[in-house]
Amino acid sequence: MKILVCGGAGYIGSHTILELLSADYEVVIADNFSNSCPEVIKRLEKISGTSIPYAEGDLDDQSFVDQLFEQYGPFEAVIHFAALKAVGESCLKPIEYYKNNLISTLNILDSMRKFGCHKIIYSSSATVYGEPEHLPIAESVGTSSATNPYGQSKIINERFLEDYAKADPEFIATALRYANPLGAHESGEIGEEPNGIPGNLVPYIAKVAVGKLDHLNIFGDDYPTPDGTGRRDYIHVVDLAKGHVAALAEMNTRKGFDAINLGTGRSYSVFEILNCYSEVCGRKLPYEIKARRPGDIAENYLDPTKAKEKLNWTAQYDLRRMLEDSWHWQSKNPDGYTSPADSK
Ligand code: UD1
Repeated sequence: MKILVCGGAGYIGSHTILELLSADYEVVIADNFSNSCPEVIKRLEKISGTSIPYAEGDLDDQSFVDQLFEQYGPFEAVIHFAALKAVGESCLKPIEYYKNNLISTLNILDSMRKFGCHKIIYSSSATVYGEPEHLPIAESVGTSSATNPYGQSKIINERFLEDYAKADPEFIATALRYANPLGAHESGEIGEEPNGIPGNLVPYIAKVAVGKLDHLNIFGDDYPTPDGTGRRDYIHVVDLAKGHVAALAEMNTRKGFDAINLGTGRSYSVFEILNCYSEVCGRKLPYEIKARRPGDIAENYLDPTKAKEKLNWTAQYDLRRMLEDSWHWQSKNPDGYTSPADSK
């Protein structure tokens, strides 16, 4: 069975490709490499020993998406990871974010309709819950209003899927709402490599650990949490990737739209992450306390019960393993994908 993976060269997409191949799916990657690079595909081929077809192009171009289905289809399902995802940037460039993130989803749905493909998994996020009233967050609380265009685009895309599922009785859609992904494949060949200075916590700490950045800025130590720093639900990216394979299987058993959390059901603080990373890399990592970051919340973590019941999926890896795998990737590739893979 062949799966079209939009954004398959990105951080979560690339790890999912390996899990799909292990589960005997055929894959085709569509990516514009705006926040990734073709080297990712070479490395996926090296790890898997499989040749991976890919098409470079923009999903906000309907003719490119139609061409994907024509040339590489038929597809059993689409997994849609491709999106702009920097929260701060989305506030500065809302038009770019809405155009890219919304039009690409509409184009994919339109091509799926034209070419008779009925299943889609959509990359959503815990951000759709906004500021939670109760923890852990269960799917049943419904989506809230996000504080930024990036998060808002996730909510709107989920709505597209839900509405289309009401209109087409054959359509099956799953929005997977992710906790914060960390770690890397055990090979150390693929991992997270954001453009420029990382906006997220662990990619930033990894750059401090490898000596590319001086110290971590901790955004606030006066939150109502035990050590005063923000707490989040962190999940190993390979656990997340496996969740997609489980979701594909579950979609054979129902029709319509569903939203499922992929999280661990617990949170860690910024200090807990920093201290654990220091242990893993063998060096006390420097930090400075700064003001809170606008839009941040004190704590969130997801209720993973529905994923266990519906997908028979539970996260397997603990925090130490996530950070060991992050460090393995970063120390092996201090310059990310521009570090030549064959020289190590
Ligand atoms: C953000 C997005 C989320 C997205 C996730 C990707 C929002 C509000 N957040 O989550 O949708 O899925 O990235 O992983 O939409 N921190 C520091 N110093 C830093 C960076 C972060 O102290 O240099 C702190 C933050 O204040 C926060 C924690 O680390 O308490 C995690 O931050 P981050 O990794 O950016 O993730 P989120 O904001 O939770």
